[in-house]
Amino acid sequence: MASSAIQELIQDVDNQLNGSITIVVLGASGDLAKKKTFPSLFGLYRNGFLPKETRIIGYARTKMDRDEFVKRTTEHMKLGESPDAKKKLDEFLKLTSYHNGQYNEDASWEDLARYVEKIEGDTKQKNRLFYVALPPSVFLDVASGVRKHVYSDGFVNRIVIEKPFGKDLESSRELGTNIAKLFKEDEIYRIDHYLGKEMVKNLMTLRFANVLFGQIWDSKNIDNVQITFKEPFGTEGRGGYFDEFGIIRDVMQNHLLQVLSLVAMERPTGTDAESIRDEKVKVLRCIEPIKLENALLGQYVGNGEKPGYKEDDSLKNKNTNCPTFAALVAYIHNERWEGVPFIMKAGKALNEPKVEIRIQFRNVSGDLFKDTPRNELVLRIQPSEAVYMKFNNKHPGLSYQTLQSDLDLTYHRRYSDLKIPDAYEALILDVLRGDHSNFVRDDELDAAWKIFTPILHEIEQKQVQPKEYKYGSRGPADLDDFVRKFGYDRSGAQNYEWPVKNVSAEDK
Ligand SMILES: *[C@@H]1O[C@H](CO)[C@@H](O)[C@H](O)[C@H]1NC(C)=O
Repeated sequence: MASSAIQELIQDVDNQLNGSITIVVLGASGDLAKKKTFPSLFGLYRNGFLPKETRIIGYARTKMDRDEFVKRTTEHMKLGESPDAKKKLDEFLKLTSYHNGQYNEDASWEDLARYVEKIEGDTKQKNRLFYVALPPSVFLDVASGVRKHVYSDGFVNRIVIEKPFGKDLESSRELGTNIAKLFKEDEIYRIDHYLGKEMVKNLMTLRFANVLFGQIWDSKNIDNVQITFKEPFGTEGRGGYFDEFGIIRDVMQNHLLQVLSLVAMERPTGTDAESIRDEKVKVLRCIEPIKLENALLGQYVGNGEKPGYKEDDSLKNKNTNCPTFAALVAYIHNERWEGVPFIMKAGKALNEPKVEIRIQFRNVSGDLFKDTPRNELVLRIQPSEAVYMKFNNKHPGLSYQTLQSDLDLTYHRRYSDLKIPDAYEALILDVLRGDHSNFVRDDELDAAWKIFTPILHEIEQKQVQPKEYKYGSRGPADLDDFVRKFGYDRSGAQNYEWPVKNVSAEDK
């Protein structure tokens, strides 16, 4: 990034916080804090984004001494080759401390408040950021404990919360009402870390900064849109947790729907948070609830080597019908998208790791060259960010045969010394800057649950049985027929390999 653009970001943070913040990580001994929150805070520190006076306080129930805290906090930090890194880490660690206590006792929160005051010392700027890296069961206890005892009157307070935000429309509204009693909407940052991913953030630029995409972005030109999430591993001992949610709540209602809304929304009036979120809510409200007949559900079984979902020891209900794979089709009823299927696919224990958006255009009219494959625009979110467009070209030489080729922007080839920050790093910077663009607003969450709640209830009430698929396969055998039924034409894909295939060693 140009250094002036970076200066601007740093300036933003300063304007918001007057050079001082106390970051309290609640659930500091847990996995999320260890894998994402602390490494991202370190990343921001290293790059000079944290305010001059920053204090980072970990809080959790576990009793830990300093060594143990440091060991856990730094376990997942990537220091790289730079000789400077170790020094930076030592500096960073000097900003941190740890305090333990309960989540549901006033006395513990009063104790934490005193601790925070002590750490803040005589600073005049008592701005506080509360990062809640905790499961939903203790979430409200924590939010109310913080609000009652650790809130900093007269200064900036921000609270960052993680999914799941409820299990359906009703529970999400209940949670929302309770949080709204404690914090103002503009103090709340609901993280959907997909919104921090580079290629997702690129969607707006691609759509609204290119005249050619702007012109063809509608049902007249686009036949179908697929948004795909594939994970190559199963629940691996976490089935007990997963079974409560299933793949639809875990990945689709939040991450994939967020991506969908950015693909489908109208042009916002500006790039500020509310303009963008207004458009996202509008398009979500045009989507009718997904119907069971437009769904294909799957559950993985063992492949001889790896166990099936039902063999996960942590699972309580061994007859569970919980889907570990789903393909769902949403329709958007507005002028731009009427009739275009948006196919969301997500699954665990599949053949590869992949997240991508694939926009398939319509057949070219009056097929001059016979069986011309369709154009496709693909945005690969991970691994290895790329944008590529499949287009048709004359076979070089004497023949007039049509050959499918690609215009390929693979980030690792194009940008040298590319370092894409972790999504969490980008999002925590947004919180410091007070920018809500990449966070989910309450009415957006409500609209999202409306789309998924009926089908989720139907699957549970009717005990709909998912189709089996083998661990490590592409998904249920019916998948190809399913996407074909909704218009996806694979004929162009037969002889086509994704261009980045050979450089997979770079895929980090
Ligand atoms: C699009 O063209 C292919 C041949 O390339 C054909 O098989 C298919 O039926 C066409 N689809 C539509 C909707 O016309």
